[in-house]
Amino acid sequence: MSASPGSNSHGSREADPVLSELLQAWSSSWPAAGKPRVFFAPGRVNLMGAHLDYNGGPVMPMAIDRGTYVAARPRTDGVVRLASLVEHGRAELDSARLPVRPLGVWHDYPVGVLRALAERLPAGAGVDLLFGGNLPIGAGLSSSASICVVTALALSNCLDLDLAPEDWVDIALSAERGFVGVQCGIMDPFAVGCSRPGHLLWLDCSDRSFDHLPLDADRVAVATADTGVRRELAGGTFNQRVEECARLSRELDPKARFLRDVDPALFREREGDLPRELAARGRHVFSELARTFEARDALQAGDVAGFGRRMTESHASLREDFEVSIDELDALVEISSTVPGFLGSRLTGAGFGGCTVVLLERGAEEELRRRLDEGYQERFGRRPMVRTFAGDPGPRELDT
Ligand code: GLA
Repeated sequence: MSASPGSNSHGSREADPVLSELLQAWSSSWPAAGKPRVFFAPGRVNLMGAHLDYNGGPVMPMAIDRGTYVAARPRTDGVVRLASLVEHGRAELDSARLPVRPLGVWHDYPVGVLRALAERLPAGAGVDLLFGGNLPIGAGLSSSASICVVTALALSNCLDLDLAPEDWVDIALSAERGFVGVQCGIMDPFAVGCSRPGHLLWLDCSDRSFDHLPLDADRVAVATADTGVRRELAGGTFNQRVEECARLSRELDPKARFLRDVDPALFREREGDLPRELAARGRHVFSELARTFEARDALQAGDVAGFGRRMTESHASLREDFEVSIDELDALVEISSTVPGFLGSRLTGAGFGGCTVVLLERGAEEELRRRLDEGYQERFGRRPMVRTFAGDPGPRELDT
């Protein structure tokens, strides 16, 4: 079995506090339910390719060694019980009469997954699912794809649905887009499901082809800094960006499948006639496309400084043209850039709050933490949560 989440890069197993807590809570919440099986799916950070997935472009995320756990046990009475150690509110449902509308609560995600699988569920199938984890929620680290993928994995194993990893992506998307109502791209479930430790995933979102690009963990570290500001994606601004990009694509070339397929020269020609917002969104998308290819070239040439520079340029474009940054995110990028050994930083995920991702030379982590604590506290009166991550081998069942 693969390394436990949070274990070091050599895969040695340490006691996993999240797993112990989950098993303990299971036996006190549902003592009659018998011993559960436990599954894990990681979160992710995205280093390059911001807001490119739903525009058909390339992205460069990696799974991280924190994520969502679920303890699960099948039932034969059609009842679905959903509970969580990290979110409020429980649900008890009938698998044959699942809610048709989201309620704006955390269990919309597992319910969305159950709905996506409704036709494959054996008659009378039910399940008990108790979630836990160590991934900050709504912080741009893909807690939603993580909970969707881990639910699909648990259902597949407990209810003998025989889902392949490729299915997780579509099930997670169907839950998020079709049920919860966030028009996200394909990056998150892919990053959660298909990453490899010690590598960045190179995913081309126009045809779903992917590759694993080595990221030298002895030389560089990946950290995140959390603003502590939470904004719900379902709140609308994210969907608005998706819609603006689709509108721009239709306007420039009605035959293009994605904005990525539009000739950048055509955009430059028409830029001056476009409404202000659409011109700005286009500037971000076309420059980010070019930067992401350059970043890949830099990484493959061993030029981590060149890669990092593209990350920081990406942040400026997200701030100025895509308009998804906030003062707290800008401050984190700015403070990080003063640290000796800093390579690059930008907001990760959708923006509007959540985290920045920082690439830095190995050994500079403590100084990053120190300067961020001090500088952020000075401006916003609180400390940002700074975390460093190892990669993760992906969704799996854990030994209990
Ligand atoms: C969110 C979405 C992703 C992607 C990013 C921005 O995390 O879920 O699909 O669009 O924003 O890169």
